[in-house]
Amino acid sequence: MDHAIEMEGVRKQFSSGLFRKRRTLALRGIDIQVPAGAFWGLLGPNGAGKTTLLSILSNLILPDSGTVRVLGRDVLSQGPEVYPRMNLSSGHANFLWSMNVRENLSYYAMLYGLSRPRRRERIDSLMDLFDLTPYARVKFDELSTGTKQKLALAKALINEPELLLLDEPTVGLDPDVSNRIREAIRRLHRDRGVTVLMTTHNMKEAQALCEQVAFIREGTIRAHGRPEDLKRSLGLGDAIEIVFRGILDREGLSRQPGVYSVRHGDASCRILVDDHHSRLPRIFDFLSSGRIEIQTVDIKEADLEEVFFAMAK
Ligand SMILES: Nc1ncnc2c1ncn2[C@@H]1O[C@H](COP(=O)(O)OP(=O)(O)OP(=O)(O)O)[C@@H](O)[C@H]1O
Ligand SMILES: [Mg+2]
Repeated sequence: MDHAIEMEGVRKQFSSGLFRKRRTLALRGIDIQVPAGAFWGLLGPNGAGKTTLLSILSNLILPDSGTVRVLGRDVLSQGPEVYPRMNLSSGHANFLWSMNVRENLSYYAMLYGLSRPRRRERIDSLMDLFDLTPYARVKFDELSTGTKQKLALAKALINEPELLLLDEPTVGLDPDVSNRIREAIRRLHRDRGVTVLMTTHNMKEAQALCEQVAFIREGTIRAHGRPEDLKRSLGLGDAIEIVFRGILDREGLSRQPGVYSVRHGDASCRILVDDHHSRLPRIFDFLSSGRIEIQTVDIKEADLEEVFFAMAK
């Protein structure tokens, strides 16, 4: 098996509203191939189709057309052969609210057919990994958001999956909990070779964890590749960081040739350009004609967030 995930021509339209007349084309022909053992990010604006794509991979919803192969099997016709080898965790976790942490994990462990001793051993080690032991007897609806998310991840690992689908695993978490969750995910991938497909709106997280990212917009994959290659293919050269005194005409600056975007604070700005060598003289002229006094200039590499904005345009 070369690919953990293969989707070809996958389309999905939702019908909703009065008489189910409102139609939303969530996926418009998705083709992706994620190699076994890879760590991929799925990025895109709200409503792009990320959760729909993960739900189709997990067979939670059916596509209208196209083929979906997971771990070398056709999900639609050979589902029962793949479910035990994969799992999904959502940052918007929804569990049986009246059951406590241990009961919830036991419930899923039973669904996956783990024997009683194996269940106990697995649950203990996952509760330990995600610092859930103190919450073992706390009901799901009494847990904080961060603890719910840790439970969602623990549940997703209960069957030791070869493929892990993560939908915004750190959304709404404080930096400390997010970092620990990221570290746990990174270790699973590195030490056990688990294939991961993760959605996130956090570009730093994607940059830190993902070997490749795919950009989805309006139900279509627009580009995929290593972040560095995407930057190059989009012609995103450098970010010029300037500390200045004065009042910046951001609009005017954004209109200068070769400028993709301008982010700025009170006394500093970051200008994303295709090539800083050729663009700097004109940018300096523009700033000095606006009575901006330049204090420092730094040239940095474009980051994934800038790739995202360029893709989302
Ligand atoms: N059950 C549903 N019924 C009707 N429309 C739906 C349903 N689920 C998703 N959609 C629509 O399909 C499109 C894709 O939604 P999806 O949840 O996959 O986006 P997403 O990329 O995960 O967005 P976000 O970043 O906000 O989580 C959206 O327009 C959404 O409104
Ligand atoms: Mg989503």
